Amino acid sequence: MSDDKNETEGAPGPGEDGRRRERVIGTPSPAREKALLAEDDISAPAGVGEQLDEASMKRAERIVATFFLVAFAASVTFIAYFIGWSGRDGGMHGVLRARESNFWLGGTMALSFLAMAVGVTIWVRRLMTSKPIVQERHELAADEESRAAFAQDFMEGAEDSGITKRPLLRRTLLLAAAPLGLAPLVLLRDLGPLPEKRLRHTYWGEAVKKAQAEGKKGVRLVVDGTNKPLRVSDFSSPGGMITVLPEGIEEEVPEEQVLTQNAKAVTILINVPPDKFKPAKGRENWHVNGIVAYSKVCTHVGCPAALYEQTTHHILCPCHQSTFDATDAAKVIFGPAARPLPQLPLAVEDGYLVATSDYHEPVGPSFWERG
Ligand code: FES
Repeated sequence: MSDDKNETEGAPGPGEDGRRRERVIGTPSPAREKALLAEDDISAPAGVGEQLDEASMKRAERIVATFFLVAFAASVTFIAYFIGWSGRDGGMHGVLRARESNFWLGGTMALSFLAMAVGVTIWVRRLMTSKPIVQERHELAADEESRAAFAQDFMEGAEDSGITKRPLLRRTLLLAAAPLGLAPLVLLRDLGPLPEKRLRHTYWGEAVKKAQAEGKKGVRLVVDGTNKPLRVSDFSSPGGMITVLPEGIEEEVPEEQVLTQNAKAVTILINVPPDKFKPAKGRENWHVNGIVAYSKVCTHVGCPAALYEQTTHHILCPCHQSTFDATDAAKVIFGPAARPLPQLPLAVEDGYLVATSDYHEPVGPSFWERG
């Protein structure tokens, strides 16, 4: 009995309440439903390809194979893009090309899974016989009889799918699955390279060296966004917080490195009330009248610790609520961060706030290799 015939016989009929029932697209027609329920022995093996004639089955087979080939092409494109094009224009792993690489990697991977899913769905719906399958609830440990029944069902399913008799489908399916299996291995590349010593230094160190070579005390702090050097008098009210960077970072760092250098050097400046301030041992002269500078990169996993509570003098990281005490060397008082925010030594030169050295310890998450 063909599907077309079923569709004709299965036209919606009146329900128990006498009203015309609408048939949901994709569900068996009422006539087909009755026929299925009437089958006494539902475990009897169904003949392979009972539902379609040979020509229709061949057509369906070609359609399925086409989807598998599309899945294969998409997976290969994913890997080729990841490897082949990753070196262009500073690499797709940089911040600048994240959107483009997300689009292509996500798009090709999604297309591959979609094509594979559509192919398998058409295979099951068009080339395998349909019959109701009832699975009774049973104990978790199956008895011998159940296992034998499962093995028999499995073999029937394998026979029904025609995977041994249809080499074209079998080979294109394996072809489509192979690159997908390799994709996770390729992604391991994103775990490296290790940062090694690159986090030990920020642009503050380089800028301070240049300034000191010109006979200055240190490099001036500029306000993030305006690049305006900051006078002590501009930041004299206790309770304030502002984000600063080393002067010259925008002009002197190569353009493709500006974002990376900014991300490492970004610093928060806080004016802590003098009566609350507790300078750490050995850092007594690292502040200017209670104005202190700490790295803005959270020592948990690197979010910007960008919130400041004026009344408690707490610096908060919004990602996982790590809390640092601005009055006490930015020590951790709550949350998952494992160490304080690194502190930048400050001084005054010609009325401007300057940094007199780089951070004395690496900025950023504690788990990064800091050797
Ligand atoms: S990144 Fe700051 S608390 Fe997790």
